[in-house]
Amino acid sequence: VITSFGSINLDFVVALPRLPRPGETVSGPDHQTFPGGKGANQALAARRAGADVKMVGAVGRDPFAELALANLRAAGVDLSGVRALDGTTGLAFIGVEPSGENQIMVASGTNKRVSAAWLKDALHPGEILMMQGEVPGPEVTIAIEAAHAAGARIFLNPAPIPDKAYAGLARSVDVLVVNEGEAEAIGAYLGLPGDPAGFVKALVTAERLVAVTLGSDGVVAGRGTDVFHIRPPKVEVRDTTGAGDAFCGALAAALNRETPLERALCEAIAAGSLACGATGAQSSAPEAREIAALADTLRAQ
Ligand code: RIB
Repeated sequence: VITSFGSINLDFVVALPRLPRPGETVSGPDHQTFPGGKGANQALAARRAGADVKMVGAVGRDPFAELALANLRAAGVDLSGVRALDGTTGLAFIGVEPSGENQIMVASGTNKRVSAAWLKDALHPGEILMMQGEVPGPEVTIAIEAAHAAGARIFLNPAPIPDKAYAGLARSVDVLVVNEGEAEAIGAYLGLPGDPAGFVKALVTAERLVAVTLGSDGVVAGRGTDVFHIRPPKVEVRDTTGAGDAFCGALAAALNRETPLERALCEAIAAGSLACGATGAQSSAPEAREIAALADTLRAQ
């Protein structure tokens, strides 16, 4: 079982002719709502990629909660670790321009009150605990300690960019996935190179996998002495929201099946690419067979 300890949001999405600059108003037509949140998106992506998945997190006691959980429930993600708290479910306000690029503002709501104590019965030797940066850093820190004690494997995607105080968590995990901006910031905090290849080389160990996602340029990733650069396939891009989450979920699912590293990364890139095909972070998270078919066309360089 893969456990995702992270955020659950409802996303309000508006298609814009272009993203606004600070202080500017840009109007689009009707809004659409979609389930979102990096924790929930990654849980769904791992489930669609074939893994058994448990979600641990929080929603509010409000009408947004069930909408936010709908896709996880339909996909058969175990929601017994999701608590309903007084307060508002996390909400994200997302503008998407025609190129598929987005801008996201998040009202964290009950995601800011999750507790690592809720993981008590969820951590088991060899199983993957998957976390992101949309729940409080102190709880992620405690969860990492608990996962180490239980012998679980820790998969961290510190997105959005963490506070300096939590940058060092990069050194305590088994799998680290960042984008270029996160690599640059964490590299600066830790006094390490911030360029993708330098960042990977500085943080890999024989056991630790480090991946830097590069958007339309794919991914640079390494473990031990193996370093791979995998370029993505050409796909239609409607909305890049959740592409990184689909990458993480599919990678966790592949690692959970003990898939060889190069193939696991090809599956992750395939999933991230396919996830750009429809509006909404979870809408186009692909199923295992679609991921496998596209991954068959990819190779490391
Ligand atoms: O990574 C995409 C996600 O970031 C969106 O679903 C939104 O909820 C924000 O958490």
